[in-house]
Amino acid sequence: MATRHILLVEDEAPLREAVAEQLTDRGFHVEQAASGDDAIDRLASFAFDIIITDLRLGTGADGTAVLDEARAVYPDIIGIIVTGYGTVKDAVEAIKRGATDFIQKPFQFDELLHIINTALEQRRLRAENAYLRKQLEERYRFEGIIGKSTAMKELFALLETVAQTSSTILVTGETGTGKELVAHAIHHNSPRRAQRFVAIHCGAIPETLLEAELFGHVRGAFTGAVATRPGRFEEANRGTLFLDEVSTMPPSLQMKLLRVIQGREVQRLGDQGVVKVDVRIIAATNHDLAKMVAEGTFREDLYYRLAVIPVPMPPLRDRKDDVPLLVQHFLNKFGADLARDREPGTPAPALSIAQEALRHLMSHNWPGNVRELENALERAVALTGGRRQIDVRDLPPSIQAAGASIAPLDVAIPDAGFDLPGYIDKLERDVIARALDKTEGNKGAAAKLLNLKRTTLVEKLKRMGRTAGAGRDDTQPA
Ligand SMILES: Nc1ncnc2c1ncn2[C@@H]1O[C@H](COP(=O)(O)OP(=O)(O)OP(=O)(O)O)[C@@H](O)[C@H]1O
Ligand SMILES: [Mg+2]
Repeated sequence: MATRHILLVEDEAPLREAVAEQLTDRGFHVEQAASGDDAIDRLASFAFDIIITDLRLGTGADGTAVLDEARAVYPDIIGIIVTGYGTVKDAVEAIKRGATDFIQKPFQFDELLHIINTALEQRRLRAENAYLRKQLEERYRFEGIIGKSTAMKELFALLETVAQTSSTILVTGETGTGKELVAHAIHHNSPRRAQRFVAIHCGAIPETLLEAELFGHVRGAFTGAVATRPGRFEEANRGTLFLDEVSTMPPSLQMKLLRVIQGREVQRLGDQGVVKVDVRIIAATNHDLAKMVAEGTFREDLYYRLAVIPVPMPPLRDRKDDVPLLVQHFLNKFGADLARDREPGTPAPALSIAQEALRHLMSHNWPGNVRELENALERAVALTGGRRQIDVRDLPPSIQAAGASIAPLDVAIPDAGFDLPGYIDKLERDVIARALDKTEGNKGAAAKLLNLKRTTLVEKLKRMGRTAGAGRDDTQPA
């Protein structure tokens, strides 16, 4: 930690020197001032972290004046007031005017040290919160998409360019990574933003209806077609059509879709004529379309038409540095919802999260990505019941468990030294053995539990000379 600079203002020389010496012993850098005027002079030329001042200072400026001056120049300075007997009321007054804390003479040095350390910790947290808030407030071109990681910066750069075009886009990524969010963002930042964004979830609509839904139909085209209706393509004319979960589209429709994309015209069901459409298509899927092409379940030609510009969404576990930012984003969001529900019109209380809870969130693997994080925080905010801080106990049990298993270990380093590689080796063996116990020797399942590839686990077992979980037949494939 950086050295902290303290200005100690006290007119009683013996006391001042004694305290200065003890503070210096604890690693602080201390300057002494014997009077208020001297203190004010020193404040003008140096940015102290902490000022400790006696309230009564003989002649010249008193402690309150010194503190006022300090805070005027350095709003973030930690001001600690030392009071004599019977001046507590004045100290309280000083706190109201911005002092951080006070201590009454005579005091134990440890009491003062405790006050200093608490104040430093509080200031650190405040600074951290302010930093996060500032990062959130920074205006992105793509508002509502939170992220500062390298992966997200790359995504923003990509979105920036593709939004300007009308090219077909294929957004891929695991569930909850923000595919739909990104599709919206592209539309709203494109020249088509004044026109409609029409979304259709291909998997949610039965095959027979999907065709009519996409391309429209005339009256009597099929049983139940009581009126003529334009399809989603026509609705999205000059705007954007979002084809969500495009991998679920049946082969017959895949072909028709391909034709529309190539010909830029649609034919309503039961109609002879065609309608010209100018639609930008954004498709999304959490399936591996390339693999489906290889397996013959998705048309190759359609795949290439859709994937003109692929936009891959990074999973949250690969950009954990975004977790604190997302947490703050969702706390603001759900905190505001909560305040509105409780007492309409009242400003939302600022919710924060305990560092320990944040550590749990950072170590979780997030198979459900941002949606899972969002849900976890919505639940946590609901469970706080008016508390301002999210604690570990407010998190879903699975996440509490995740963090606990990698809690920092309490390792004492002996004077004789510590064999770190040996220790890590042993740790790895133990954890792998436990995972294999839990899965009754199933390596595939154990690898999954440990967030390893199966091949990696097998490698490790080989390297270890395979003793973990001995007594079981491990040569059987899992
Ligand atoms: N980067 C982000 N910043 C803020 N919110 C996000 C971000 N990514 C996702 N979200 C939020 O997470 C939730 C899930 O996002 P979205 O619905 O876009 O995911 P998806 O990739 O379409 O998932 P699925 O494949 O399950 O449909 C939404 O509430 C969305 O607003
Ligand atoms: Mg989606």
